[in-house]
Amino acid sequence: MKREIVVASGNKGKLKEIKEMLKDYEVFGYKDFGLDFEIEENGNTFFENALIKAKAVAQALGKPALADDSGIVVEALGGQPGIYSARYAGDGDDAHNNQLLLKNMEGVEDRRAKFVCCMVYYTPDGNVVTASGETRGTIMQAPEGSNGFGYDCIFFSEDLQKGLGVASDQEKNSISHRSRALKALMEKLNG
Ligand code: IMP
Repeated sequence: MKREIVVASGNKGKLKEIKEMLKDYEVFGYKDFGLDFEIEENGNTFFENALIKAKAVAQALGKPALADDSGIVVEALGGQPGIYSARYAGDGDDAHNNQLLLKNMEGVEDRRAKFVCCMVYYTPDGNVVTASGETRGTIMQAPEGSNGFGYDCIFFSEDLQKGLGVASDQEKNSISHRSRALKALMEKLNG
């Protein structure tokens, strides 16, 4: 029987990727267990927000939970949107976030950016294991493709030499901030 992992996220894009990466596990979102609360992410760092999410779900379910807090960090914007990536344009809509980012990057020459992911595994008795991952690239001039989610369609990956909006799931997972963080976390958990 496969071991179970509960992810403290309702983001379908993230859950799909994590399921793909953890093929040896049965991966659930916390809403699969009938929990319907939204978690207020009021931390100041990716790590703090991941901890808030993992802790809330682990305590509500009485079993370990995994949380991912992630976002896009743009050099020329002083690291923005960063931890505010999900609600950059205010309404949580990916297309609006992308439009605002492209607008804020109009005429900007330095287009370097990175995706960052912080993973936290929290057990109800208070044990915390963490890991992080990054992937680098540049902000494109216009959206391209519709694969992935969030900012993928405006991010040109340095590793793949193509936009994530036109990369396959497998290609993205081979270089993504999330897969790098998860690999490091699983190595810590499983030794
Ligand atoms: P969180 O759910 O608070 O961690 O917010 C994550 C947000 O960062 C998402 O809603 C996306 O806007 C962005 N993001 C994180 N990872 C990715 C990714 O792999 N591709 C595109 N956007 C991402």
